[in-house]
Amino acid sequence: MNRQNLSPEALELQPILKHPEQGLVVADRVLKDLYPEFFSCLNFPLLLLDAGEDAKTIASVQILYDFFLANKLRRSEIVHVFGGGTICDTAAFAASSYKRGCRLHLYPSTLLAMVDAAIGGKTGVNYSGFKNQIGTFYPAERIVIHPDFLKTLARDEIRQGIAEMLKLAILFPEIPIPDSCEDLPHAEDILRHALYKMSICQIDPYDGSERMLLNFGHSFGHALETKSEYQIRHGDAVVMGMIMACDLSLQMGFISRERHAELRNILSGYEFPASVLAYVKNLDMDELLVIMEQDKKSGSAMRLILPVGKEIKLVELSE
Ligand SMILES: NC(=O)c1ccc[n+]([C@@H]2O[C@H](COP(=O)([O-])OP(=O)(O)OC[C@H]3O[C@@H](n4cnc5c(N)ncnc54)[C@H](O)[C@@H]3O)[C@@H](O)[C@H]2O)c1
Repeated sequence: MNRQNLSPEALELQPILKHPEQGLVVADRVLKDLYPEFFSCLNFPLLLLDAGEDAKTIASVQILYDFFLANKLRRSEIVHVFGGGTICDTAAFAASSYKRGCRLHLYPSTLLAMVDAAIGGKTGVNYSGFKNQIGTFYPAERIVIHPDFLKTLARDEIRQGIAEMLKLAILFPEIPIPDSCEDLPHAEDILRHALYKMSICQIDPYDGSERMLLNFGHSFGHALETKSEYQIRHGDAVVMGMIMACDLSLQMGFISRERHAELRNILSGYEFPASVLAYVKNLDMDELLVIMEQDKKSGSAMRLILPVGKEIKLVELSE
């Protein structure tokens, strides 16, 4: 555990990406095609993985263990991971459990991974139809944010990252609301969000208090992702989850109509694809609730992050 790092110094904004100097490299297959020169000049063994929720599995973890073993990876050597949230979560889980944990450097390549998934040490894979059922807390020793990676990112993917930036801005008023759902944020804004998340994780590394607030929108969101068989993407699901949480709070009398309108107004700036809106319109809420009850964040009472008065809080709802 001594190599874990939740300090701001672990985060580095690197305008020109440098090649790692030792270890093994795991990368999203797409990145090798998009950045052939960078990856073909690597002097280390390279494993290419498919991204996406369908590949965030124990089977991918086994491929990683086999790659580590085949290359005689020692605990003192570094696993360098280049990819979005699904690759970072999966490879970081493998690195955290291989020989009880080897060194880990992350190079998030999507906006969502830069501002959220790579920060704070949650690793994991999906299992038995549920999101992130198997995982560890294992912060990377170093996280390198290279904003140039975002130049090849599709608009739909940029929006997924903006979703998490929007969530942070709703939770913490000192963080500005993102201007647009499609434009790339400035490198400084990306770093500020990443640092802010890091600071919360530093206070509460294991999700016992402050950090739980970062799950705002996630209980509904994960259930939406699962129910839609991942047709609804993580960021879109989280924003829809925040809307559902606001509506539930109004229904339960936790917030006034004015506060509900204020929050819905902020969230209305988010541009959902028509397919997500159509899916949610036809959704059976009872089925969503069944999935939420099975979610790992739920115990005997359902625990949700909800707006309450002017705040956003953890609320336990008994049946
Ligand atoms: N560990 C955490 O704390 C945490 C927090 C938030 C989200 N997550 C997880 O993150 C995952 C979502 O991450 P994501 O949105 O990055 O998904 P992803 O890894 O599937 O990447 C999205 C798509 O972008 C492509 N891609 C990656 N980098 C690219 C680049 N530079 N240019 C062009 N295309 C690129 C990928 O191949 C993929 O098709 C979810 O599984 C979610 O649960 C984890």
